[in-house]
Amino acid sequence: AARLAAFDNHEQIWLGQDDERGLTAIVAIHNTALGPALGGTRVWPHATFDAALTDALRLSRGMTFKSAIARMPFGGGKAVIKADSKTEKTPAMLEAYAEMLAALNGQYYTGEDVGLTLDDANFLRERTPNVSGTTVGGSGNPSPVTALGTFLGVKAALKHARGSDAVSGLRIAVQGLGSVGWSLCEQLHSEGASLIVADIDAARVAKAREAFGAEVVETETIVAAEADLFAPCALGGVLSADTIPHLKARIVAGAANNQLARHEDAAHLMRRGVLYAPDYVINAGGLINVAAELAPEGYDRAEVMRHVALIPETLMDIFQRAEAEQRPTNDIAQAIAEERIAQARAA
Ligand code: NAI
Repeated sequence: AARLAAFDNHEQIWLGQDDERGLTAIVAIHNTALGPALGGTRVWPHATFDAALTDALRLSRGMTFKSAIARMPFGGGKAVIKADSKTEKTPAMLEAYAEMLAALNGQYYTGEDVGLTLDDANFLRERTPNVSGTTVGGSGNPSPVTALGTFLGVKAALKHARGSDAVSGLRIAVQGLGSVGWSLCEQLHSEGASLIVADIDAARVAKAREAFGAEVVETETIVAAEADLFAPCALGGVLSADTIPHLKARIVAGAANNQLARHEDAAHLMRRGVLYAPDYVINAGGLINVAAELAPEGYDRAEVMRHVALIPETLMDIFQRAEAEQRPTNDIAQAIAEERIAQARAA
């Protein structure tokens, strides 16, 4: 029963296994009340199959809420390929995955995520149609749009918590210097923020030290950095009962999916006076971009930018409601998303 409860009402969970070509993939389709499932594919060397499954389930559920909050006509889905993207992601493995996607018959649209690059998305798109964020026939890598939305969300959080959205002179800790984290750093640096960074990739931190004059700290200690704002841009679960007591920043606003180890951790943050920007609200830029590509009227960059510019407004509404009702911000965000899904179901 505990196992079934963990499936959290997912509509479908698909397993693709091809030992010869080195594929173990999970496609989780959480909810399609608002439209077909949409969400990227993560390639990550989870220690166990259960860990990969849990990741896929939590990520796909997050996509359902993300889409509902951003008012996109898509449902939540996500895939995890259990592999090390640096050593185990071969063309044969991606071939096998493309066949799995094709067999899903249009129920699931995918694209980039951690470990799956623009080149990989292009490779998949040549073999199966339901891949977005590609160079040919698509809008390209969604990460810069995610980073822009996150930057605007950081400013909204600063405005709410400090009365000014200026980043100049503030100390901002960024965890993860990948596609999104790096682009966020560029924007923060150009507006005068002092950056504190951490990444498991030594080359990336060295580059950040040089490009931004960033202070480099260990990956284990970045949560506890003396900062005004903490921006998680690596993997999930960074805010937990273990880490929250060490957090010095009064604001958490970053792009990583599933930043909270457990839903209740947001209440813990609230009790400590930390403003938390719900992850699936602030990081919706990438989804907005890839979903626009699939719109019947075709991709319109200006329309995408208008839509992304609404992210701070949405966050402000959530912050204000949370404060007025003395509830955690993620409870408010989830309630809004669930209401929209219920309305769609009723209609
Ligand atoms: P990426 O793979 O380009 O970058 C992730 C970075 O985090 C890498 O540099 C990696 O070395 C680093 N990292 C991994 N574990 C770490 C740790 N323990 N401590 C510090 N650094 C660590 O991924 P991307 O695309 O930048 O995504 C980052 C996060 O944002 C992910 O959680 C992703 O799901 C989320 N996200 C990304 C979107 C996009 O458009 N790319 C859209 C929405 C969410």
